[in-house]
Amino acid sequence: MTPTSAPSIAHIEEPHDLFPTMDLLRLSTAGSVDDGKSTLIGRLLYDTKSIFEDQLEAIERASRQRGEGYVNLALLTDGLRAEREQNITIDVAYRYFATPRRKFIIADTPGHVQYTRNMVTGASTAELAIVLVDARKGVLTQSRRHGFIASLLGIPHLVICVNKMDLVDYSEEVFEEIRDEYTGFASKLGVKDLTFLPISALRGDNVAAKSENTPWYDGSTLLHHLETVPVGSSRNLVDFRFPVQYVIRPDQDYRGYAGRVASGTIQPGEEVVVLPGGGQTRVVAVEGVNGEMPEASAGESIVLRVEDELDISRGDMIVRSRNLPLVGTRLEAILCWMSDRPLDRSTHYFLRHTTREVQAVVSELLYRIDIDTLHRAPADTLELNDIGRIALTTSAPIFFDPYERNRETGGFVLVDPHTNVTVAAGMIRHEVRTADEVLGSRPERAIKSENAVWEEWNIGLEEREHRNGHRAAVVWFTGLSGSGKSTIARGLERALFDAGVHTMLLDGDQVRHGLCSDLGFSPADREENIRRIGEVARLFYQQGNVVLCTFVSPYRADRESARALIPAGRFVEVHVAADLQTCIDRDPKGLYRRALAGEIAEFTGVSSPYEPPESPEMHLNTSTTGPDELIEHLLEELRVRRIIPPRKF
Ligand code: ADX
Repeated sequence: MTPTSAPSIAHIEEPHDLFPTMDLLRLSTAGSVDDGKSTLIGRLLYDTKSIFEDQLEAIERASRQRGEGYVNLALLTDGLRAEREQNITIDVAYRYFATPRRKFIIADTPGHVQYTRNMVTGASTAELAIVLVDARKGVLTQSRRHGFIASLLGIPHLVICVNKMDLVDYSEEVFEEIRDEYTGFASKLGVKDLTFLPISALRGDNVAAKSENTPWYDGSTLLHHLETVPVGSSRNLVDFRFPVQYVIRPDQDYRGYAGRVASGTIQPGEEVVVLPGGGQTRVVAVEGVNGEMPEASAGESIVLRVEDELDISRGDMIVRSRNLPLVGTRLEAILCWMSDRPLDRSTHYFLRHTTREVQAVVSELLYRIDIDTLHRAPADTLELNDIGRIALTTSAPIFFDPYERNRETGGFVLVDPHTNVTVAAGMIRHEVRTADEVLGSRPERAIKSENAVWEEWNIGLEEREHRNGHRAAVVWFTGLSGSGKSTIARGLERALFDAGVHTMLLDGDQVRHGLCSDLGFSPADREENIRRIGEVARLFYQQGNVVLCTFVSPYRADRESARALIPAGRFVEVHVAADLQTCIDRDPKGLYRRALAGEIAEFTGVSSPYEPPESPEMHLNTSTTGPDELIEHLLEELRVRRIIPPRKF
C-alpha cells in the first residue's frame, strides 16, 4: 500500500524556496478520523497535479487490490503517513502543492499534534484552517473545538468544508443548517473570516472544479478560495526575536549564532541585547545560505555575528535594544490539554518555548472552557481535549510576548517528564505578578516630591480579603457615552452590595465634578483623567474592595496603564459595546445631539476616536441584550475568577 520510494512530497520538509517569487499560503486541516481529511488533501494534490506519476500508479494499484471502484485518494496521504511514522523524527508532514497563482503548504499531522507543531516550530504558522464537517453528522463538539483552537491560535481565515455532500443528496437544506449552527457558534469566537463550502472530497465537488450537483451554491470552489484569500497579515514584522539554536565556532576567529528569526527583521549595524544575560552589542553580519544579507526577516534561518564576545548559548534570545520582550517566571495562559493523563498540578512538566526548555508547574487553574457553549466552568483538572485558562510558574525566566501579539514567542508546549510526550500546548496571555510584587513596590515613576516615602499598609490585602470573604478586584467598564456603562455598573454594584461585597464606584461624570474638575477632553486631559482614576482604583483595591470604574476611556494605552497597576487576574476589563447609532438614538444626556450640531468639540465617537479593547475580559453588547442578563454574566465572570464566592449568590 505504501507508495514507491520515489522522492515523496512528505520528505520535503520546508519546500518554500522552490518558487521563491510566488505567494505562499500555509494552511492546516482538522477533522475527526472519518471526516475525509486524507481524501481532501489527496484530492487537492491530485487535482493540482502535484502527485508524482509513480505515486499515482501505486494508489491506483492499491485501490484496485482493495476492490474499490475509484481511485482512493486517501491512500495517498495515509500511505505517506504510515511511511513517515516509521521514521519517528518527522512528526509532521508538509504537503506541498501549487497552482499557477500560488503555492501551498498543508501541515498534516494526525489529531492535535499539528497545533503543537505549528506553535512551537512556527515553521508552519498557518494562516488558514480547514475544518471538515461530515454532512451526515452535522456540527460535532469536535468541529467546534477545531474552530475554537484555530481562533485561539490566531489563524485569521477559517474554512468550514461540509464534506460528503454526495451522501446527503447534495441537499441545500443540510448545508444551510450546518452553516447556521456553526455561524452562531463562531460569532462568539471573534473569527475574522469564516467561509462555508459544500464539497465532496471523494467525488471532487467544489474542490478544484465547480460542481454541477450544487446549483444552489454560488460561492467559489475550495481551491479558488485558497488561491485568493489574502496572505501575510498575521506575521509579526515589528518585534525582532531571535532564539539562538546553535553557537557556531569552527575556530578562534569566527563565532556565529544560528537560528530562525521568530519575528521582526534585523540588519547589520543594529544594536541588540542578549537575554537573559542582558549584554549589549551590535550586529556585524547577517548570513544566510548564500552569504551575507542586507536584512533578514521573520521565518528566515540565519547566522548572526555580533561585535563583542559575549557569553551566548542555545536558548538565549537576541532582541533589539529598544524593543524587549517580557521576561518572567509566572505566566497566565490558555492551555489545550492533549494527553490521556489529566493535568497534574504537582508534576514538574518541561516547558518548551522557542529554543528554551525550563521546568514548569501549573500553579492555578482559573477555569475550563465548555467547548459547546464557550462558558467558563470551575475545574480541578484538565483532561484530554480540555481547554482551560491557567497560571504557571517556571523554574527559570522565559522571554515572551503575549501570543496575540506574537505567535512565535507567545506559544509553548508542556512535555511529560516521565514519558517525554507532549501533553499540552499553551498560548501566553500575560505575565502574572503576585499581589505582593505589585503592591509592595511602586511602579517606576518619577515623583516630584523626593521626600514622600511609600509606606506599606497597616492591614495587608490578604487579611482584608480573608475578613471580607471575597477578593479585591478592579472592574473597568469602557465604551462610548450612552453605551450603558453606568447602568450596568450600578446594577452590578447593587447585586454585590446586597450580597455583602465591599464595593467602590468611580464614575466619569462624578469624578469630573471633583478630583478631575480641572480636566477637559483633549487626549492629554483624558490620559490624565484615567491616570488619576487608575491610581485611586488601586488604592481602593489595595484595601480589599471590588472597584467598579465607568469611564469612556477611549484610548487603549491609557486603559493598559490602569491595568498595569493591578495584578493579573484582578483587573477585569469590560467592553460595554453598543453601536454608535444606538448611542445616538439613546442620547440620555442630549450630548450627541449637541456634538453632532458642532456644539461640543472632541466628542467620542463623533469628533474624537474610540479604540475598542482588543481582548477584554468581557464583551457586553447592550444593543442586543438587556442589563439584567448582562449583570448576571458579570456576576458569573466574577465567580469563575473566584473574586466572589460561588454560593453566596
Ligand atoms: S474619558 O474619555 O476621560 O474617559 P469620562 O468617562 O471621564 O471620559 O467622561 C465622559 C462623560 O463626560 C460622558 O459620559 C459624557 O457624558 C461627558 N462628556 C462631555 N463631553 C464629552 C466629550 N467631548 N467626549 C466624551 N464624553 C464627554
